[in-house]
Amino acid sequence: MGHKRQLIFLCNGSDCRGAGAKSLKKELKAELKSGELKGNCKLIETKCMDMCKSAPVVIVNQYFCKKAAADTVLKEIKKALREQG
Ligand code: FES
Repeated sequence: MGHKRQLIFLCNGSDCRGAGAKSLKKELKAELKSGELKGNCKLIETKCMDMCKSAPVVIVNQYFCKKAAADTVLKEIKKALREQG
């Protein structure tokens, strides 16, 4: 079995920052360091993704988490990792 890896794209545009992207990033970073996610995830900050109405926006596994909250994002990450076997 190969190494599992999940990329997480977090918008760092001004609207998303205004909608809490910074604290979301903090929460996610802490979670990504522990348990089954440890070493399997890479959080990447992006510029505005043109979905500001849904801020904060996070992409996991080609899925847009709109008005993203840490628990929704983590659920998607875990699902995506499971799908990789
Ligand atoms: S600022 Fe995040 S989508 Fe525009």
